[in-house]
Amino acid sequence: MEKITIRGGKPLRGEIEVSGMKNAAVAVILSCLLIEDTCTIENLPDISDVDLCLDILKSMGAKVTRKSRTVAEINCKNAQGGISPYNMVRGMRASYYLIGAELGRYGRAYVGLPGGCDFGTRPIDQHIKGFEALGAKVSVEGGYIDADAGEGLIAAPIYFDGVTVGGTMNLIIAAVRAKGTTVIENAAREPHIVDLANFLNTCGAQITGAGTDVIKIKGVQSLHGCSYAIIPDMIEAGTYMIAAAACGGTVRINGVIPKHLDSVSAKLIEMGVVVEELDESVIVSRTGPLTRVNVKTMPYPGFPTDMNPQMCVLMCLAAGTSYLTESVWESRFRYVDELKRMGANIKVDGKMAIIEGGAPISAAPVKAVDLRAGAAVVIMGLVANGKTVIEDIHHIKRGYDHIVEKLRLLGADIEMINTTDDEGELKQAN
Ligand code: EPU
Repeated sequence: MEKITIRGGKPLRGEIEVSGMKNAAVAVILSCLLIEDTCTIENLPDISDVDLCLDILKSMGAKVTRKSRTVAEINCKNAQGGISPYNMVRGMRASYYLIGAELGRYGRAYVGLPGGCDFGTRPIDQHIKGFEALGAKVSVEGGYIDADAGEGLIAAPIYFDGVTVGGTMNLIIAAVRAKGTTVIENAAREPHIVDLANFLNTCGAQITGAGTDVIKIKGVQSLHGCSYAIIPDMIEAGTYMIAAAACGGTVRINGVIPKHLDSVSAKLIEMGVVVEELDESVIVSRTGPLTRVNVKTMPYPGFPTDMNPQMCVLMCLAAGTSYLTESVWESRFRYVDELKRMGANIKVDGKMAIIEGGAPISAAPVKAVDLRAGAAVVIMGLVANGKTVIEDIHHIKRGYDHIVEKLRLLGADIEMINTTDDEGELKQAN
């Protein structure tokens, strides 16, 4: 079993490069199904969710060539719909983009219901409502979504009842080859939505308004191949910013779009951290104590829910009471019990965590209960004196490209190990 071990208590110093954004990459890869030509996707993060998306397309008959760790060539000319393996699709939330892509390409989608991190219920009713507005008949049976649009999707107005990132991206994917102009209102505005639209437009789609809450998609008959580079991952960058603030020291994070980090930078500055924005880098440094703060997660441009657990760690280190309110997911605080094992003083009351900062933090055996929760225990481990051992790190590998190597570059004492049994003879992982 793979684990991460950390001997904490050292400041972080140096510079690292941010990888491509997971949540843009997975959508761009699966939307290649719409394109009967070769697309070269660059700046892919080297993470298991990307591997899984590429494997799903391969299992459907697509030709996928990994040119390097960060570049893949994808040709879906001979791919067939309706045959993606149930167990692969279940392994990831983003597999819901296959529904939009199969509907857009073949007029019919048959895809297993998606999996992903457990934040309570994760409905896709808004996606389904959108597909139905475009003329598909949708049913769920035996764990599969069956969506049938007969001769193909017909453009229509779509109004989302709540802001949904996946719903917005899925409906863009579905509507790109529909007949007529689809208008999505109350659309999400995340940078990865703009990235998906830019990719599809480079392939000949006609999408306007991505990044605002009204998006127009004028359907086109076919799309052509292109080369496209994925934008930098703002959540990965934000995670290293918080790691730097938590450990102290000075870290330069390169290859970012600083604007995407505004909400995180603002909170760090409020806590007494120095954040310097350059054209494509941020420099984060802390020498003094952290100040308590309140944070509420919101859709973009608000403070990202995917930074909730990492922010909670920082609040644990700031003397005084901080309040962290989750407004996107029903339950995102499953990681709190893991932080408590390390000495954190946190109470959860519904959608709010009340953090009494300044409690002594000590190393402990903990688990990564989901992807961002995993990042949080890594950061806590970097702070804690003693040896922290983290299990269930497959969650971390889903979304953080070479996190161990990147943190080692910053001087952290962290390694990935393989235990052969429960008690464990330890040996280095490959
Ligand atoms: N919602 C509905 N009905 C729907 C869709 C969503 O009620 O049909 C609700 C959800 O239950 C939630 C809210 O709307 O309360 C927002 O959900 P959204 O659809 O925006 O989330 P998602 O598309 O399932 C993506 C990211 C998540 C990230 C959220 C919010 C991907 C693959 N996942 O999920 O990323 O937390 O947006 O920004 O893009 C992560 O990367 O660690 C991660 C969990």
